[in-house]
Amino acid sequence: MSGVHLQPLADPASHVPSVGRTIPHDSAVGHVTGAAAYIADLPRRADELVVGFVPSAVASGRIRSIDLGAARGVAGVVDLITATDLPAARHFGPIFADEPILADDAVLYVGQPVVVIAAETQAALDEARRLVRIEIEPMEPILTIEQAMQRGRFIGPARRIARGDAAAAIAAAPHRLAGVFHSLGQEHLYLESQAALAYPGEEEQIVVHSSTQGPTETQHVVAAALGVGMHQVVCICKRMGGGFGGKETQGSLPAMMAALVARRTGRAARIVYRREDDMASTGKRHAYRTAWEVGFDDDGRILGYVVEFHSDGGAAADLSTSIMERSMLHVDNAYWLEHVEIRGRVCFTNHAPATAFRGFGGPQGMAATESVIQEIAIHLRQQGRPVRPLDVQRRNLYGLSDRNVTPYGQVVDRNHVAEIVESLAARCEFERRLSEIEAANDRDPLVLRGIAMMPVKFGISFTAKHLNQGNALVNVYTDGTIQVSTGGTEMGQGLTTKIRQLVADAFGVPTGWVLLMPTSTEKNCNTSPTAASAGTDLNGAAALDACGAIKARMAAWAAARLADPASGLVASPDHVGFAGGWVYDLRRPDRRMAFGELCAGARLDRVDLGARGYFATPGVDFDRETGKGTPFFYYTQGAAAAEVRIDRFTGDLTVPRADILIDIGRSINPGVDRGQVIGGFIQGMGWVTGECLVYDEKGVLLSNSPTTYKIPAASDVPVDFTCEFFPNDDNVGNVARSKAVGEPPLMHAICVWTAVKHALSGVSLAAARRLCLPATGEEILRALSSTAGPSASGAGWGHSATMRGWSAAE
Ligand code: MTE
Ligand code: HPA
Ligand code: MOS
Repeated sequence: MSGVHLQPLADPASHVPSVGRTIPHDSAVGHVTGAAAYIADLPRRADELVVGFVPSAVASGRIRSIDLGAARGVAGVVDLITATDLPAARHFGPIFADEPILADDAVLYVGQPVVVIAAETQAALDEARRLVRIEIEPMEPILTIEQAMQRGRFIGPARRIARGDAAAAIAAAPHRLAGVFHSLGQEHLYLESQAALAYPGEEEQIVVHSSTQGPTETQHVVAAALGVGMHQVVCICKRMGGGFGGKETQGSLPAMMAALVARRTGRAARIVYRREDDMASTGKRHAYRTAWEVGFDDDGRILGYVVEFHSDGGAAADLSTSIMERSMLHVDNAYWLEHVEIRGRVCFTNHAPATAFRGFGGPQGMAATESVIQEIAIHLRQQGRPVRPLDVQRRNLYGLSDRNVTPYGQVVDRNHVAEIVESLAARCEFERRLSEIEAANDRDPLVLRGIAMMPVKFGISFTAKHLNQGNALVNVYTDGTIQVSTGGTEMGQGLTTKIRQLVADAFGVPTGWVLLMPTSTEKNCNTSPTAASAGTDLNGAAALDACGAIKARMAAWAAARLADPASGLVASPDHVGFAGGWVYDLRRPDRRMAFGELCAGARLDRVDLGARGYFATPGVDFDRETGKGTPFFYYTQGAAAAEVRIDRFTGDLTVPRADILIDIGRSINPGVDRGQVIGGFIQGMGWVTGECLVYDEKGVLLSNSPTTYKIPAASDVPVDFTCEFFPNDDNVGNVARSKAVGEPPLMHAICVWTAVKHALSGVSLAAARRLCLPATGEEILRALSSTAGPSASGAGWGHSATMRGWSAAE
């Protein structure tokens, strides 16, 4: 424990709570020095094997033969595994077990693992990979949402959430618009690729170190793949080098591959995906096709709204139906929709199974509605009405005491969105800049400008009720130091740092006395993935529950020793306080003992200083059959405004200014949360601008490395970029009155896209209407040039239609 001072402070009154203060991320130094270990950094185990796989090169087809002869002959190759070798489960999946562990008779997407290879060295593995011969009889793949719709290929049932009579309301409305909006997928590009290390133990046990957001899910699929009990599998995750949803379920495959090799060979086995394999083989954010119809009045008030989503689910269900559900629950964003009908269906395609990605379908739902709002404003302006997008947004925001029920029946209480929007609009001088921008657009032949506001209301809780629980193990040692283990995983978001602060404050000790231990299914069972932004809510509350149990025992023990009957101070556990590394009598702070002294003494008196805590979110429920319920514990709210500049000749986009105002309640760690907000916003900016997944006509991902897939660089960050927290104390039910922060900021960035749409409306309303998401330079140029003449327009569409598979008819 060198470097940790175990001395209490001068007195309890010197204690400053840690919660609410910026302390460094507990791996901040390790992230920079390299001391923070990822799966690839774990020390090599004796006899360890290198594991890799041979992916399908074909999107859809029947496997005629697999020839492993030549690969087997490579010196150093130890094992080759195909589907026929699987000892137990052949399929896996978090909701439906429909995804083949290894391709059996058919291949379903380019990149799908067909053969697992284990070798003594990377060189032997690479050589064997080259020599495996897989003969595939190709079949016509389904590569677009439209093709899946035409062929009726869906995953799961069609879902519907509705209120009122949307069709009638639209028919009766003074204005009507309809269209189809497309948003593309997104690659997670976590810095650590998918990885796992497995080694066998006694009695058919296996230990798997996995880069996973969901150790319990990994434990479950590994047990099923090996045909053993879950008690024989321990899954450990110290940290991930980013997950962003891409490791909520998709850590499963590498974990199973490593575990299968470990079981068959009796040796340790490690797999670390190469970047190209990771990008080609793993699922992404879902691309969506949204058909919509809206009816509205002269002021832009929405009277009726019909939305139909089709998502590209890829070749297995994964979390797609749950993600679609969240899209449908976020069509309303922050707006009151009296008559609304929302339909959603997941399409089967021959792409890698699409999966969770920050926002979990929310961004797709909200972007579609924001696009519609822009179109309402454009339309009204075409009619000569002086209505701007912000006016339309304002007029449709949920009310504070009326017009405040979501389409699924949950009341939007503690609603601050309107206040946040007004506060941000004033702070960033939104309306003055809007006028200047529109005036500048009229005279500037080179640069086109746009500006937009994005209100955000994001529902916090898993929509699957049973996932809203967490458990924690807290061990207090006799020197007063504390180890905490929860089911939550650390992926850079600061979960462990925040729980450290919560626990340190609970015992009134410095944060240095508390350590968060690696997540392991051995210590915390049946946990939910760290997702839905609820990591701190669930695991922090569970840790505090454990702390409460231990403190009660400590207080009972300490009360008698702190009391001073001579001076009339009777022993009372209710009057035992914990602060500054002291345990003291709240009535007489001079009557105290060091926390470590208490721990040692209590242990001698056989007081249990460890506890398991538990938390289940109260009051959440949602019935997906009826589309009604209260799925969310509360809403994280906020707004952002962004200004864009577009080179009219190249389509090149820059974001000179962005402002964020977000309500994350009482922040547990403002520095960490600021990192979440800024990082999430920039990641969202990537989704809506530069990031473009390009497949060839055979379903091969062409943008399969950071050289061909462009995420935002430091130079893309707005020069003028502000981020503030909206002061709010009202989230009383949640841990330390905080609010979840992980995903919401991504959706704030949708204003960057709507700002592009706004900019284009300065040139041509038709161009603006045609904009798809992401607004890449190419996409902007297409929208701009399609107004220039038929040939340019034709070229633009032709290009995009092949690259993205969008139907030119739209
Ligand atoms: N931040 C970092 N640095 N790395 C990540 O992988 N994932 C995001 C968000 N912030 C992520 C991140 C996603 S998708 C979620 S759901 C939350 O963190 C999960 O963590 P939390 O629930 O503890 O906020
Ligand atoms: N959000 C994020 N991840 C999830 C959810 C959710 O609502 N449900 C299952 N995994
Ligand atoms: Mo986050 S997409 O819920 O892992």
